[in-house]
Amino acid sequence: MDKLIITGGSQLSGELRISGAKNAALPVLAATLLSEEPVSIGNIPHLHDITTTMQLLGQMGIRLTIDEKMNIEVDSSSITKYEAPYDLVKTMRASILVLGPLLARFGEAHVSFPGGCAIGTRPVDIHIDSLIKMGADIRVEAGYIHAKASRLKGCKLVLDKVTVTGTENLLMAAVLAEGVTIIENAAKEPEVSDLALFLNAMGAKISGIDTDILTIEGVLKLDAKNIHYNIIPDRIEAGTYLVAAAITKGRVLLKDVRPDLLDAVIDKLREAGADISTGDDWIELNMHGKKPKAVNVRTAPYPAFPTDMQAQFTAMNSVAEGVGIITETVFENRFMHVQEMQRMGADIQLESNTAICKGINQLTGAPVMATDLRASASLVLAGLVAKGETLVDRIYHIDRGYDHIEEKLSQLGASIRRISG
Ligand code: EPZ
Repeated sequence: MDKLIITGGSQLSGELRISGAKNAALPVLAATLLSEEPVSIGNIPHLHDITTTMQLLGQMGIRLTIDEKMNIEVDSSSITKYEAPYDLVKTMRASILVLGPLLARFGEAHVSFPGGCAIGTRPVDIHIDSLIKMGADIRVEAGYIHAKASRLKGCKLVLDKVTVTGTENLLMAAVLAEGVTIIENAAKEPEVSDLALFLNAMGAKISGIDTDILTIEGVLKLDAKNIHYNIIPDRIEAGTYLVAAAITKGRVLLKDVRPDLLDAVIDKLREAGADISTGDDWIELNMHGKKPKAVNVRTAPYPAFPTDMQAQFTAMNSVAEGVGIITETVFENRFMHVQEMQRMGADIQLESNTAICKGINQLTGAPVMATDLRASASLVLAGLVAKGETLVDRIYHIDRGYDHIEEKLSQLGASIRRISG
């Protein structure tokens, strides 16, 4: 298994281009199952989860062509089976996103039940219960979700919890349903809106985009009419590199980003003392050589502070001036990175879903283990400012969600290298 070795001490400085958003690319690629014509998607990030999604669609008999610019053309007309097998779903829970489109377009889906992961049990009860309300016949047997529906029927759905992939699955199910579907308490994450805009570009009739009430008027078919759709930039990748510059007292200019999708993160970085300026598609952060000040953070659904930036801010607080309190309200077990940071000398006290971080002068490099995507990124950030070498193991987690992380950090002056084996 590959590992990353980071030697701390460099003050990062430079500029980066941000890749397309993983969590928009995954539902948009699933949504191509709904189109009767081939469709082309651009600004796809070069990530392991994208490869897995292409394998998932490919093993259904779907034709995919990808060019050197990471544009993917998908033609679902050659589909031969409606299944998401265990060996793929176990590596990527987001495979559940084929359930809604398969059911809507083909009336049948067999999806391996996604297990939990390091950050929580990750149930999909809201996905399943809502599809049943839309008329699907669903049974869970031998670890698989078996779903059938002659034609889904639109209805009013009030979701018990704000769920990103739950909202996305139901959006995709509703676009071909008979009649109107209303989804209340819908997730408003930008990636949900990107999916809705893509579906409308293919002829769907969705209104209320960017709000928590989505209204979908079912149509008989979607037709991509040779559209080419570009995925939005990855706001979490962008936020991660902003924290990399802040934690090392440096500066960074990010291009191909959407600052308007990062308001909560930018506000917190300004509170930490960062000097930030923004344009339509760029963000510049400069610490002017100063240590960040500790900040209090409470995660919640968009537009509040994103849970996917919590671990990165925990790392920053561990070397900031003062005490910062981090409260995680979305997932029940998303502090796995804390014990690894404590091994690097961090003074963090866990009390149920809260981490109380007392900034220390310097962390000490150590061998640490990644447990989930964002926790592993936060350990790399900690390694950037630790004394000596930090060895981050199990970095397959990182490769799922960060496109060429060591190249991008090296470009900013970090001392980081990958070792295989
Ligand atoms: C999406 O996961 C993202 N993944 C996650 O990003 C992100 O952390 C999360 O949304 C929250 O923003 C993708 O988009 C592929 P949820 P998702 O359903 O949809 C509960 C990353 O780092 N819930 O919004 O699985 C659930 O337990 C990943 O890129 C139910 O109870 O998250 C959680 O407490 C990690 N029943 C809360 O809702 C359900 O049926 C929010 O989960 C569904 C969810």
